[in-house]
Amino acid sequence: MSQTPASVLLAVGGGIAAYKSAILCSRLVQLGHCVNVVMTKSAGQFVGNSTFSALSGHPVPEGLFQSSKHPLGAHIELAQEIDLMVVAPATANLIGKFANGIADDLVSTIYLQRTCPILVAPAMSSSMWDKPSVQRNMKTLREDGCHVIGPEQGWLSCRESGTGRMSEPDAILGSVSQLISRGK
Ligand SMILES: Cc1cc2nc3c(=O)[nH]c(=O)nc-3n(C[C@H](O)[C@H](O)[C@H](O)COP(=O)(O)O)c2cc1C
Repeated sequence: MSQTPASVLLAVGGGIAAYKSAILCSRLVQLGHCVNVVMTKSAGQFVGNSTFSALSGHPVPEGLFQSSKHPLGAHIELAQEIDLMVVAPATANLIGKFANGIADDLVSTIYLQRTCPILVAPAMSSSMWDKPSVQRNMKTLREDGCHVIGPEQGWLSCRESGTGRMSEPDAILGSVSQLISRGK
């Protein structure tokens, strides 16, 4: 797959599917994109930031307040000059924050700060996905112009099948390519 190189910000939420985002990160880099990764605190319970810094080739900021590395604020500096923000996995919590303008950590603050297109890849149990509050928040995100991929139906880590599985890295890469080509 050949593609114009782009600057992609990959935001990783605290769900089991975070391990797939390491593959996504590596594949984006292999396609020639400049990838920066931001993680929620919960995401660090699933994949270490060393994995993402090594795969992306860029340090993963610890949080909002890293004044020595980002004097203007990590949310300002990282949101500048990115072509696409990808949120994978997008937890129910992140989706709720995005839909309601809550900016209480680096990922949710960048969401509000950025001006580029965004691709959201939700992942959660089917019980969470089916909740009216989550569906309301998803409707809001779509109305707000977010691009959404998945979730898919299939095996979930809670040991049942249902809707809530994060789309596979290849599918997300396909959407990333489309959005980048559209923006160029
Ligand atoms: C083992 C485990 C797996 C989880 N998987 C998910 C998940 O797939 N999706 C989700 O929305 N929340 C999941 N959660 C709950 C989130 O980690 C929790 O809501 C957290 O506050 C999300 O924070 P974040 O949105 O800042 O990453 C999981 C929690 C645990 C302990």
